Amino acid sequence: MAASLSSYGFQTASPASWQRWRAAASAVEEVEIRVCVNRSCGRQGSRETLAVLSALAPTGVAVTSCGCLGRCGAGPNLAVLPAGFLVGHCGTAARATQLLADLCGSAFDPQRNLEAFTLRKKGENELEKGNAAEAEALLSQV
Ligand code: FES
Repeated sequence: MAASLSSYGFQTASPASWQRWRAAASAVEEVEIRVCVNRSCGRQGSRETLAVLSALAPTGVAVTSCGCLGRCGAGPNLAVLPAGFLVGHCGTAARATQLLADLCGSAFDPQRNLEAFTLRKKGENELEKGNAAEAEALLSQV
């Protein structure tokens, strides 16, 4: 189930524009998500958002960092290109994966990808602690 546009906080386009943009974006096959990592958004968790989006973005979706988008009070903020669609309050892994689902449609399962991301992070943490057996058990589930 796709989230409504208002669930992202603010937008520069109407829902009708969003639907037209989604159709156009699928035609060009290349979407870029720029995540603001400037001071205010960084304090609100944008680097974690960037990490989640970078890890889970499917082919055809590029994820990069950027500077201030001018909406500091509604961060973490990101811009979806080529339409220049701004998304605010994207500060959790669940919200980031839902954005990818909204952009990619049914080809992207947000729940499954979020679970895989969580398992991978737990596995990497266990590996850093030197718990190879636990890490392997977690990473083999991904
Ligand atoms: S710091 Fe991110 S929009 Fe200004």
